[in-house]
Amino acid sequence: MTSTLGTAPTTLPQANEPCWCGSGRKYKRCHKKSEGRVLQGTVTPMRAVPDHIARPPYADTGEYEAWDEGRIKSPDIIERMRASGKLAGEVLAMAGEMVAPGVTTEEIDIAVHEAFVAAGAYPSTINYHGYPKACCTSVNEVICHGIPDSRVLREGDICNIDVTGWLNGVHGDTNATFFVGDVDPESQQLVRVTEEAMWRGIEAVKPGSPLSDIGRAIELTCKPYKYGVVRAFVGHGIGEQFHTDIQVLHYYDSRSSTIMREGMTFTIEPMITLGTINYKIWDDDWTAVTSDGKRTAQYEHTILVTADGADVLTGGPGTASPTAPWLR
Ligand code: MF3
Ligand code: CO
Ligand code: CO
Repeated sequence: MTSTLGTAPTTLPQANEPCWCGSGRKYKRCHKKSEGRVLQGTVTPMRAVPDHIARPPYADTGEYEAWDEGRIKSPDIIERMRASGKLAGEVLAMAGEMVAPGVTTEEIDIAVHEAFVAAGAYPSTINYHGYPKACCTSVNEVICHGIPDSRVLREGDICNIDVTGWLNGVHGDTNATFFVGDVDPESQQLVRVTEEAMWRGIEAVKPGSPLSDIGRAIELTCKPYKYGVVRAFVGHGIGEQFHTDIQVLHYYDSRSSTIMREGMTFTIEPMITLGTINYKIWDDDWTAVTSDGKRTAQYEHTILVTADGADVLTGGPGTASPTAPWLR
């Protein structure tokens, strides 16, 4: 198999010259096809969470056993989710401020890890189904679940950071896409429209309405731009468990007929593409990339259905996407 490790040099070989990776093969038979694509870096071993931090059930085994969790949360759970959501939103904003050319995604991961631990929270993704890091960092054509590694962020990249923390027994899950230095106008528009699409989805949250209203609003926001709306990954119920049975599609499907009820909590996290919505998974079994290599962006909030709309548990002052862009 072609080695995907290492970093491409600034000056690339000619097609018939040996590949820079040291495989001994011609460049055109080796890494040329991945020119301009995100290269896998080195992933360091899982970082320990100190003993004084309470751990969710999967933390020690990496194995996940789901239980039946009510869809309507009690006032006590909701208050705890407000706190864990606020923390996740603040950790994400801090991580976003680190994004700059020359910074590795691993450096961002370490800061996220330390910030959750300092606040008394367990970084939810660590050992979740065996996932090794405290956040996901998804660069350029990576749709989601990119693993922080030794890759250096480069001027012009876009980088999604997805953080989830477990505080007082409940999860808060949020992500945003950040610019690395100066970014081309096409990517800037993609990121702006993706954030808008998430907020249009949040605006569609109303008790008594079907979940399909959310996907419809997101799809309609993206339509004028002819962007793709990823179908393979969806929003999810959240609470004492990271992912529960509620599925929030980001596209319209009449079968998504579950009625939203006051007290429900779930995420809205559209992934929007410049090109195809088809994807491939890297051999790390996590990283999802667009199959055409074109860029993709994502935003995510954890929300609570209220009597007349939604409370954004991971939004508000000091968070990465505090409120809808047209309200700020
Ligand atoms: N935070 C992601 C979500 O929005 C899930 C990441 S799970 C991991 O649902 F294991 F990939 F980290
Ligand atoms: Co999520
Ligand atoms: Co997330």
